[in-house]
Amino acid sequence: MPNISFILNGKQVTVPYEPGMHVLELLREECGIVSAKNGCAPEGTCGCCLVLIDGRPALSCLRKPQQLEGHEVTTLEGIPEEMRRVLGEAFVLEGGVQCGFCTPGIVVRASSLLENGQASSRESIAKALDGHLCRCTGYKRIIDAIQTAGEAWNDHHEMPRTEPRHHFYFGEEFGLKRNPATTPNANVKNGIGSSASRLGGAQQALGDKPFVDDMRVPGMLHGAMVLTPHPRAKVLGIDSSAAMCPASAARAWRCRTCRFSWESARPPVASEILWRWWSRTHSSTPGKPRPK
Ligand code: FES
Ligand code: FES
Repeated sequence: MPNISFILNGKQVTVPYEPGMHVLELLREECGIVSAKNGCAPEGTCGCCLVLIDGRPALSCLRKPQQLEGHEVTTLEGIPEEMRRVLGEAFVLEGGVQCGFCTPGIVVRASSLLENGQASSRESIAKALDGHLCRCTGYKRIIDAIQTAGEAWNDHHEMPRTEPRHHFYFGEEFGLKRNPATTPNANVKNGIGSSASRLGGAQQALGDKPFVDDMRVPGMLHGAMVLTPHPRAKVLGIDSSAAMCPASAARAWRCRTCRFSWESARPPVASEILWRWWSRTHSSTPGKPRPK
C-alpha cells in the first residue's frame, strides 16, 4: 500500500492508504479520528466530515489522500482547547446539539468563523452553514450557539449570558407569566425555571461521544450494528459460516463487501461486536463481562 505524509493536528504522520480511499476514510480508519463523521460520503452534501486543511474548511470525503501530501489537517480534536471549551459551552447553553451527529462538522466550521471574526452576524453564520445538513432540528439554535460563541470569543472567552437567546416559558405566547419566584436570574445556573444544561452535551458537541460507527475493537476491520428481527429471543447459537473468510480475503472485504470482517481467520459475528461494545461501555470493569 502507498503511504502519505502530512501534518495531523500538529503532528507529522505517515499513514498507508488504499487506492480509492477518500480522506475521511483515511482519517477514521488509519488515524483513529472519530470526530469527522460519515453522513453521506462521498457525496459531499452533509458537511459532517468537515476538517480544516491548511486552516481552511474542507470536506474530507471529497479529497483523495494523495492531495494531503505536505499539507496540514486539523480535525475537531486538534482545535485549541480554549476554543473547544467556548464552542462546547455555547452549543450546550443554546441547545444547539441534539443527536450530535452533524455537530462536530458544524463546530469545525464555527471554529473557522471565530478565528476569522465572522461569527457576529446571523446572516454570515447562516450562509456558512449552507453546506451542513442537520437531520434533527432547524438551524436557529445552531446559529444562536455560534453567535454566542463568537460573542464569548471576543469578550474574554466568557459566556455572555446564562440563559439561551431563545428561551420561552411555555405559555408565554398565550399571555401566561412566569412565577417571579422561579424566574431565572444571573445567580442561578440550573434550577426551577432555568434551562438545565444537557448532561454530556459538550462532549457530544465536540465529537467526544462515540456513535456506533466510532466503535473500535482490537483487530476489527469493520463492524456494523444489526437489529434482530425477533423482539424477544434467547440466542442458542449463531451460524457464522456466511461470515467466515480466510485471512487473505480480509483486506478485500474491508473495502466494500463484508461488514463483519476482522483481521483474523475467524471474523466476529454481530453478537460478539455487540457484546464487546456493551461490556466496554456498561461494565464497571471495561472489557470484562458484567456480573450476572
Ligand atoms: S460525509 Fe462528507 S459531506 Fe457528508
Ligand atoms: S443531525 Fe442530529 S443534531 Fe444535527
